[in-house]
Amino acid sequence: MSPLDPAAPPPDRLQADGAATSDTAEPGFAGGQALRTAANRDVPLPSPGEIRPLRIGPLEVFPPVVLAPMAGITNAPFRTLCRRFSQDRCLYVSEMITARAFVEGHARTLQLASFGPDETSRRSIQLYGTHPDTLAAATRTLVEEWGVHHIDMNFGCPVRKVTASGGGAAIPARPALLAKIVRAVVQSAGAVPVTIKFRKGIDDSLLTFLDAGRIGEAEGARAVALHARTAAQLYSGEADWTAIGELKQHVRSIPVLGNGDVFEPWDALRMLRQTGCDGVVVGRGCLGRPWLFGELCAVLEGREPPPPPDLGQVVDTLREHARLLVGFFGEKHGMAQIRKFTGWYLKGFPGTKKSLPALHLVRTLAELDELLAPLPRAVPYPLVALRARRCKDGKVQQVSLPQGWLDCREADIEVEDPAEMDGG
Ligand SMILES: Cc1cc2nc3c(=O)[nH]c(=O)nc-3n(C[C@H](O)[C@H](O)[C@H](O)COP(=O)(O)O)c2cc1C
Repeated sequence: MSPLDPAAPPPDRLQADGAATSDTAEPGFAGGQALRTAANRDVPLPSPGEIRPLRIGPLEVFPPVVLAPMAGITNAPFRTLCRRFSQDRCLYVSEMITARAFVEGHARTLQLASFGPDETSRRSIQLYGTHPDTLAAATRTLVEEWGVHHIDMNFGCPVRKVTASGGGAAIPARPALLAKIVRAVVQSAGAVPVTIKFRKGIDDSLLTFLDAGRIGEAEGARAVALHARTAAQLYSGEADWTAIGELKQHVRSIPVLGNGDVFEPWDALRMLRQTGCDGVVVGRGCLGRPWLFGELCAVLEGREPPPPPDLGQVVDTLREHARLLVGFFGEKHGMAQIRKFTGWYLKGFPGTKKSLPALHLVRTLAELDELLAPLPRAVPYPLVALRARRCKDGKVQQVSLPQGWLDCREADIEVEDPAEMDGG
């Protein structure tokens, strides 16, 4: 039995070949060799005790790994897949949920906010909004009725529509608003820990991350996470891990999480060592590679990672992902969702590009099976796929902000809540 088997026993009792076990070996793939690119060739495994658990209020997460909130990606089916590959040991955050749409009960938002039947512990949700009252109302419902265990807040989304209406990455530029929002959510969350996630700033001329960290700490956030790029950078260039180290020096009483460019488990280890941060948040590296969480668990616990899947096992994972999406969203919407993942799963495998146009139009699980059937199985995982571009990189932007947003930045301000937003 494998982690792809829907009837798999609880993850803490699985090993690579599916037999029951009491140790912590990851459910993974048999055969093949673990891969590392040149960037990580000489990174040694951690010594015993070197990597410490991440403590976010009452939550303890070991190894200290968090699935990044990603709009259109980290819905319940994807989180389930990542949980299975890592024996449910990490923290898996939902995509951003618009507080107003949630409070108003929009069906699509409620579905995106919901959890899978396997998500009985560490239910984690990211909220997006601009008005403290709406965010507080959403928080109360999530805590009292939805039983969430963690709320993350989005102060890093750089999407034009979001920043232009004073949300996401625009908020840290207005410290009083940031403080008011965090305070309102922390108060409404009671014992449930609240964390905040932000970028370095608007652009190189307006860096806000140290202030955002200080405000989060002062207002009762239980951890802060830095995506070490500015909003102007979007996803381009390299994440600036030095800034993560600076934030760690600045924020002393709560954990600091580093985010940006973890594509191999060894990157996470390097980030922890280089910056002194308390945990890593992993985004694009797991697109089409949910098994990355198993690799992260192994390496951060001091073991060589399990070998990556061959093409046949990748195809099995892709099919299982599609099956989970269809189970959650129904066939039409679930299959529409899987289309964008097909290229990420097949990335770097020779000869698979020609299948993509048809895969991008796939409408049923049967059609997916038919399109994938001709692919050979025994093709080793390509090294080049580990750090290949997956999503959203390359471009930079001039950040759109509401009129006068950067005038009198210290003054209090109120922003009307946006109805519904897609993140990024
Ligand atoms: C497709 C996509 C959607 C994203 N959606 C969100 C989101 O909803 N909330 C958020 O805080 N960040 C979002 N992000 C940013 C990621 O959480 C993360 O900060 C970023 O990708 C950098 O990490 P990485 O280098 O590991 O990818 C998104 C990123 C991608 C690629």
